Amino acid sequence: RNVAVILAGGTGTRVGLAIPKQLIKIAGKTILEHTISVFQAADTIDEIIILMAQGHLDPVHAIVRDGAYPKVTQVLEGGSTRNETTSLALKALGEEECNVLFHDAVRPLVSQKIITDVVEALGTYEAVDTAIPSADTVVQVHDERTGDLDTISDVLRRDLLRRGQTPQAFRASIIRDAYEKAWQDPDFTATDDCTVVLRYRPDVPIAVVQGHERNMKVTEPIDVYIADKLFQLASAETPEELDDEGYRAALEGKTMVVFGG
Ligand code: CTP
Repeated sequence: RNVAVILAGGTGTRVGLAIPKQLIKIAGKTILEHTISVFQAADTIDEIIILMAQGHLDPVHAIVRDGAYPKVTQVLEGGSTRNETTSLALKALGEEECNVLFHDAVRPLVSQKIITDVVEALGTYEAVDTAIPSADTVVQVHDERTGDLDTISDVLRRDLLRRGQTPQAFRASIIRDAYEKAWQDPDFTATDDCTVVLRYRPDVPIAVVQGHERNMKVTEPIDVYIADKLFQLASAETPEELDDEGYRAALEGKTMVVFGG
């Protein structure tokens, strides 16, 4: 059994609106609904659980009420950190063994291919991450501040770096065990779930499935515009998802501008 957990427990302070960013409407639907739709349409997904920011559950109940997303079985309150939200989801799942895919509600452009690849990797591995190469060089800075400017402590080898996306997927017993150990550690901090397995179940290898630039996380105000544009482009060109070839084709006719026409 494959269960998708949609993590919508955040409030989007960096986007900075009065509503959580997952409730912003893009291309006629909230970001959250776009995300639910992808998992609802995924053949391999049997069940969807949504964890929503405290005080904002009513709009989610309204979204799922008319039966548009029959795979959604539970709508629950999230925790005060992403890791707490994940833990609450694990609690809601009970003790039964299954595969669990955690996905950021604010990555509405995740593709069917990524979901299929992640589920397939779970056939071999007990933990799976989704990641893409980094176009930017990633520099590490000193922890302590020197005046107003950070200074570089290291420049990491770009060919070995990946940018983590979601879904992150696990055999439920593995991620449950990792979190049990993590919560006993007073120094535990993380921003994702693979880190928890890496730290507290180092015996478990974590496979990396290729994500896509399109599977962006709406984080800053500008990302809302980028996501909107990507939805427009996809629906203008094809009802399906665009692959790199599709984006390249959409660029034809724009080259005049590039070369000054
Ligand atoms: N998330 C969650 N529970 C939390 C915090 C975050 O489920 N307590 C979810 C968010 O809803 C989002 C995903 O984790 O789908 C990625 O987090 P992020 O982009 O940091 O979202 P926010 O915490 O909402 O944003 P910000 O940090 O700007 O407040």
